[in-house]
Amino acid sequence: MTGATGLTGKLFLQQLQTVLPEQKLHCLIRSNSNKEIISDVKLHFNFCTGDSSEQHSWSHILKTISVETIIHLAQLRHVSTILQSLTELNIFPRLIIIGTTGVYSRYNQYSSDYKIAEDELRHYEGTYCLLRPTMIYGSHRDKNLHKLIRFCDRHQFFPVFGSGQSLLQPVHADDLAQALLAVLLNPQIEGAYDLSGGTVVTFLELLALVEKLLGKPVRPLRVPYNLGLWSATLAETLLRERSPIRREQILRLQEDKAYSHEAATRDFGYAPRSLEVGLTQEIEILRAEGII
Ligand SMILES: NC(=O)c1ccc[n+]([C@@H]2O[C@H](COP(=O)([O-])OP(=O)(O)OC[C@H]3O[C@@H](n4cnc5c(N)ncnc54)[C@H](OP(=O)(O)O)[C@@H]3O)[C@@H](O)[C@H]2O)c1
Repeated sequence: MTGATGLTGKLFLQQLQTVLPEQKLHCLIRSNSNKEIISDVKLHFNFCTGDSSEQHSWSHILKTISVETIIHLAQLRHVSTILQSLTELNIFPRLIIIGTTGVYSRYNQYSSDYKIAEDELRHYEGTYCLLRPTMIYGSHRDKNLHKLIRFCDRHQFFPVFGSGQSLLQPVHADDLAQALLAVLLNPQIEGAYDLSGGTVVTFLELLALVEKLLGKPVRPLRVPYNLGLWSATLAETLLRERSPIRREQILRLQEDKAYSHEAATRDFGYAPRSLEVGLTQEIEILRAEGII
């Protein structure tokens, strides 16, 4: 397994230990990964230090241990490296991979790597299941929504680039973790599934929901789209990794990002919580952590 120390990874492990407490698990972690994050999970871990983007990490691990299933949560772009290692060793374990609905983006510069990885996966000799989440949320460890909530809590406004009418369907990390478990326990589940959340909202509706749940006003501050794009481009050029906003985020904010999860519901009972329930839980966590 990769990504054990991540947001979804830890929630998955917590669910796994309730159904398979004796499960042995080899985790590929980086030398600077914080293992403390999963110290309260009581599974039989064997930690292998490496980097899932590097072939020698995979070759080394796969030569020393025998695996039935690889659960790869770290990054879809690493799939090619994993497949090369498996082909070289002529072993074909079951693969469970987290991808992204970002593969559907019309901006090719952001989706082409994902499309290539998915294409390679389609030609894998073994069986695989690819789960494509939408934007993941759930706690201060998520990449997007906790920052939006904290900003709204502090400043009581939020910039809206363009119309604010584009659609979102964020998925709670715990629902994604539950889907991973269902797939792991049911080897007949194969192929690719989109995993979106229980509610579709426009960006303006999302702000209104955050306003309601925080119990304080959150005013949408309209920013012309081109000005937003120009500012993000400039900030990224000057600040690079430290830029608070990325050009991709502004571009992709204009895209509808709602996707049906009907196939997952039909095949393994996927039933994500509503956004109102998930955000209420996230706000509780942020308050308990003293973040808001
Ligand atoms: N965040 C989103 O909105 C979103 C949307 C769609 C899809 N996804 C995908 O969903 C997956 C899970 O997302 P998440 O937000 O739960 O993850 P996360 O909290 O960002 O955690 C990522 C995990 O992957 C590990 N990792 C990253 N690069 C690695 C490498 N080169 N070698 C070994 N381990 C590596 C990290 O280890 P460390 O502890 O060392 O950092 C961490 O355990 C990711 O593949 C992500 O790309 C995310």
